[in-house]
Amino acid sequence: MTSGMLSVFCTICMILAQYGSSHGKCTDGWNKVLVTSSSGSVLFGQKANLIEAVKHGAEVRFYVDAWGGEGYLSSTQNAFFKNGEVCAQALMHVSKSGWNGFHSNVYWWFVIICTTGNVHMSRWYVGAHTKVSETQTTVQITWFVRLFGNCELGDFKPLLCSEKNGSATCGNKNALADAVDNGADVRVLNHFNSQSGYMTPFSNIDINSNVVAGQYLWHVSQTHSGNHIDFQSDAYWWFTMWSTGGTRDMSRWSVGSHQDRGHTSDKVALEWFADTCWTLAYKHDRNGANIKGSKDYLKSAILNGHRVKVIRNRYSIEADNVQIKNGEVSAQLLGHVSKASIQKFQDNAYWFWQHVSTTGDVNTVRYNVGSKTNRGNDDSKTEVSWFIDTRPWTHVLSTSSSGTATFGNKSKLIDAIKAGSMLRFVIHLGGEKLVLQADNMALNNGGTELAAQTIRTISYTNDKIRKFQSNPYWYFSIVTTQGDVKTSKWTVGDHENRGGDSKKAAIDWFVN
Ligand SMILES: *[C@@H]1O[C@H](CO)[C@@H](O)[C@H](O)[C@H]1NC(C)=O
Ligand SMILES: *[C@@H]1O[C@H](CO)[C@@H](O)[C@H](O)[C@H]1NC(C)=O
Repeated sequence: MTSGMLSVFCTICMILAQYGSSHGKCTDGWNKVLVTSSSGSVLFGQKANLIEAVKHGAEVRFYVDAWGGEGYLSSTQNAFFKNGEVCAQALMHVSKSGWNGFHSNVYWWFVIICTTGNVHMSRWYVGAHTKVSETQTTVQITWFVRLFGNCELGDFKPLLCSEKNGSATCGNKNALADAVDNGADVRVLNHFNSQSGYMTPFSNIDINSNVVAGQYLWHVSQTHSGNHIDFQSDAYWWFTMWSTGGTRDMSRWSVGSHQDRGHTSDKVALEWFADTCWTLAYKHDRNGANIKGSKDYLKSAILNGHRVKVIRNRYSIEADNVQIKNGEVSAQLLGHVSKASIQKFQDNAYWFWQHVSTTGDVNTVRYNVGSKTNRGNDDSKTEVSWFIDTRPWTHVLSTSSSGTATFGNKSKLIDAIKAGSMLRFVIHLGGEKLVLQADNMALNNGGTELAAQTIRTISYTNDKIRKFQSNPYWYFSIVTTQGDVKTSKWTVGDHENRGGDSKKAAIDWFVN
């Protein structure tokens, strides 16, 4: 190991020591590493610590004081660093009216936040290539990271450094493939030079005998502006596929339209990081018969807040939402766009969405990206390995449909959120339990109530086996500690309002 790498590890260890985390365990929590003022000055921590964490695959979350309530916390989808500054995209938000409701005419509210204090908001009607407006502003930001590490080895070095020509200059591909087979999350660092680079997670990962390749979908086109980044004015989705063979394939589609903005490939050098805080909970055959583990254990883990990942034939993808009904688990898998091969998108790309259930049933639908054109649906059977994350999720609160605490207390939940925690919740809808993860959260009533918004759910049928509806809609939801479950429904691939509803439900809340 070079002394340069050693000093990087030491920096990471110091960040952890400084904020009191135990090092390299799945119990590592979210660390507040930095507070930047609206002019980009440092009010707490160090920018270098955030950059070191990002360079090692850390997940980044942020908190701002205002934005539609009395405090706002969100996840980020990717991060970029340059000249001592970090910018991250936070895309998972659609327009709200007030802290706990939807706008009647819903638009995407894409945000880029930067340690320079710069914030760019770009607003596009859902299902249309129509910009509502954009705003350049500055704001004070609190930055949280959670290290993305190999918890068994207790260190944070890449499992593989792959060069443009596909050779490895550190680690090896088999170790990476083994980690993926055992449920690991993977992220890659694309180092441009010593001063700048890009960190991306993956929406799904595939392995064959030659390569490990990941696909990522949640990035909107951006442009450099001095030391910070803005969205491009004519925004497109920048879908990417990265492989250990050194290839990067890029498929670009106008936001809200099936307009091809270019499909190209190049070669990149990458550092691959794995987070192995996942374990197999249950494996069954194509008819839903037990092979390994236990379905009850899987269900119990899900109802206690754990994230869920599905692996079939060395293809790994996390569930965007999970349903438990009639004793079966059904994962909705939305993070996939059609592939021509393990390393390349199809030219004429479509969404490839699936429901996978513990009965072995798979329901697949295909829609052109940015349009309502259906490219064919089918049903099949498959053997499935279900993984759950092994990070500790704490049940901090249950609320009744009238919004009173029936377990725990609301301030405990809100304290955790203000400290950067992720949030998952189980909504009790009659015989159905729907498990969602918050994309963004707003506080209100003097910081005593919380509203969580979740973006990635597509409408499904009420059959015994969960299936996508025909003419499906995005099922955006806002769930509050007052017992509200509000939805806003928009046709997939069109700016067509399908209504919405406002229900009351009992909810269990979990933080991490
Ligand atoms: C691949 O690239 C690396 C780094 O640029 C170099 O050290 C190595 O010799 C190359 N390997 C082959 C087979 O060309
Ligand atoms: C709620 O939890 C907080 C700790 O976050 C504690 O200080 C407070 O006393 C609790 N309130 C009630 C009513 O249990």
